[in-house]
Parts: sequence; C-alpha cells; structure tokens
Amino acid sequence: MPEDSMENTHTCTAPVNIAVIKYWGKRHEDLILPINSSLSVTLHQDQLKTTTTVATSKSFEEDRLWLNGKEEDINHPRLQSCLREIRRLARKRRNDDDPGLDSTCLSYKVHICSINNFPTAAGLASSAAGFACLVYTLAQAFGVEGELSGVARQGSGSACRSMYGGFVQWLMGNQSDGKDSLAQQVEPETHWPALRILVLVASAERKHVGSTSGMQTSVQTSHLLKHRAESVVPDRMVEMIKAVRGKDFTAFAELTMKDSNQFHATCLDTYPPIFYLNSVSHQVINLVHRYNSHYGLTRVAYTFDAGPNAVIFTLEQYISDFIQAVRHFFPPLTNGGEFIKGLPVPHADLSEELKQAIGLEPMPKGISYIISTKPGPGPCVVKDPTQHLLGPDGLPKNTVKQDSHNRNRHKNCDGDITATL
Ligand code: DP6
Repeated sequence: MPEDSMENTHTCTAPVNIAVIKYWGKRHEDLILPINSSLSVTLHQDQLKTTTTVATSKSFEEDRLWLNGKEEDINHPRLQSCLREIRRLARKRRNDDDPGLDSTCLSYKVHICSINNFPTAAGLASSAAGFACLVYTLAQAFGVEGELSGVARQGSGSACRSMYGGFVQWLMGNQSDGKDSLAQQVEPETHWPALRILVLVASAERKHVGSTSGMQTSVQTSHLLKHRAESVVPDRMVEMIKAVRGKDFTAFAELTMKDSNQFHATCLDTYPPIFYLNSVSHQVINLVHRYNSHYGLTRVAYTFDAGPNAVIFTLEQYISDFIQAVRHFFPPLTNGGEFIKGLPVPHADLSEELKQAIGLEPMPKGISYIISTKPGPGPCVVKDPTQHLLGPDGLPKNTVKQDSHNRNRHKNCDGDITATL
C-alpha cells in the first residue's frame, strides 16, 4: 500500500446547472469559446451532483480514470486540456507566487474516480457537473487557487457555470485566447428563497445528437442561430439579470420559456434538423401555457436542453397545485417507486375547473419521475476521508457495492447524509 496515497487524496462535489439563456454554438472549438453569453441557475446538490476523488502518488504508473464504476480512456482531449491547465497553473503558482510550496507531486501520476447521483446523458447536463467537479478536485490536489471557470470551460462549455452557486452568467468574452470568457455569479443561491425547480424526467435514455456535434451543425447551417447570437441574446441577458435581481417571476419565466423555444427553433433551423423535444415535451409545454392562462398569471415556466426532459421553474406557493396537474395529465405507474423525489411537496387537491381548463388527453407514464429541488451552492470540498471514492491502494472502492448500497444516500457539502435519488 503506497503510504502517501491517502495523504494526497481529495474529494469534492459539484452541481448541475440549467441555462435560462442558452449557450448554443462555438466560435472556437478547442478553447470552447461561445458565440453568445448565457445565464443559468445552479441546482441544489442534495438532489443532483457529481462526486469526484483525485489521488496523486509516486507509486502510480499512469494517469487513470473511472466514471460511474467503469474505467474510461484518460486520453479524452478535453479531459487532457483540464489536466494540462491545472498542472500548468500549479507550476506557475510554485514558480511565481509561492516558491516555498512543495512541487514534487506535480510529476506524480493521477487517479480520478467520479460518480453521478443521476442518469448520465439524460439531458441533465452531466458533463457540466462532471467537468466542474473534475477541475475543482484537481485544483485541490495540486494546490491551485483562484478563478477556475476558464479551466472548467475547456472541459465542457456549460461546466464553467457549475463553478458557482445561485444565478450565474457566462460572459462570452472577446479575446481570441479566451481569457475573458468566464463565469460570474450574478446572485447567490440564497437570493430568491421562494424559487423552486422541478425536473420532469421524461426519458432516461441517452440523447441522440450530442450538444457538441449538434451545435457545430447549427453554427454551420442556421441563419436563425446567427441572428439569435448577434441580435437577441445581448438584450435578453440584460433583461434576465434585471428579472433575477428584482425577483420578478413573470419576467424571469417568460424570458426562460422564450429562450428555450428559440434554442429549439434554431435546432429545427439546423440542416439536417435536430429534434430534442418529443411528444411528452410538447404536452408539458401545452400544460404550462394552459395552466398559466387559467390563472391569468405566469406561475410556471419550462425550459429544455438537448433532450426531452422539462425543467420547470415556479414559486413555492404554486408547486403543490402544479404537481397535481402534472400527476393528473401524466398518470404515473402506481407500482413504481415514488413519483416525486427530492424536496417534499405538500399534497393539494386538483380543482375540476383547472382540469377542464387544461383539457389535455392524459399521457400515462409519459413522465417517469419528478426531481423537486431549488437553487444551490457551487462546488464543495468533502472533508470526511471515509467518503473518498478511491481506496488507499488508489483504486475505486468496491464500486458495485457502493452503487447499489448508496444509491439513495449521498453526502452533502455539510457532511450530513441526505436522501437523494
Ligand atoms: C443545450 O456544454 O454540453 O445545455 O461545450 O460542447 O461540451 P460543449 O457543450 P455543452 O452544451 C450545453 C448546451 C445546452 C445549453 C446550456 O447549457 O447553456
């Protein structure tokens, strides 16, 4: 057993984020520089998170990576960019800022082990949480401090926004080296306590066209995307920041829905077209609009990324009523697990008038489950060494047992065991 391996083992967690002003399209593929700025809400890690352990040791013979229990190729170019950047920043820190720091570990090989508590590639931005967590944990292991969103961006564009909690903007920047293309917190997670988020999981299948290749084709073929990036998003960013700061739900909700719709319109305008929404997604869109129009008030908003799952924003006082409507129009499997996971939602009765006003044909089993959550903090360090995913031998701790045993229980940032998915 290498003695030093546990000493330089670090575990961190990072959140998923959901964009309300979407990033779609790059002006530089390798540096991952976007054609427009974007804005997202960081989701709470009690419900959705990635956990990563990084260990360095002089006894390791090569860099190695395990994702969700399976060894994967460490030579993935974007992963290599993040590793290279962190090692460069670590060397720089030792040379320029703190020559007293021990630099021996910089030449050591690294073992990385990462798990998600939600289905990978189900359109739940797993790459964002994954790369944010990787970069944050590598920085701990190599003693790198300061701004790290520019490194996370080089793993996956949307990952830069997962480096902060609350409401986060990714400024597109203008420089060709990407140094000014960074994420910034607009407001912390405590800013809007009444805001609630529901992830309506329509399908846990892998998406067909990945974001990276999808946006490449959109940049090459969609005139609408060019118009969106140049003439629509700049004003929308200003309006969205104003809505968030003023906790103006109507403005926030309407901008969120319009931006999601425009993003999916650019997917349709891509040639050949890309379809991320399915019949369940369309039904959710109809449900939300009919629900809002029944009350004569924008109480609920939807947004969709590169997949069919709806993410719903609403306020605490409306959540029970809305969930009853979802349950009625998407009757769940009665013998399955719980339909609503995460933050508890109090029961409410569904009124006949609302049912009549919505008037859609119910879609049984259209939604498999709902994750109920709220805005949450950025990446966290897990201090308890028993939570490391790598054992003292630098290999994953009995992953199979851990997956089945711990599926419903993960550690949150404060060290409590919290029921999750
Ligand atoms: C639809 O960040 O996954 O979720 O930079 O190529 O890794 P790459 O793409 P990725 O794209 C996310 C696109 C989106 C919108 C968003 O999160 O802003």
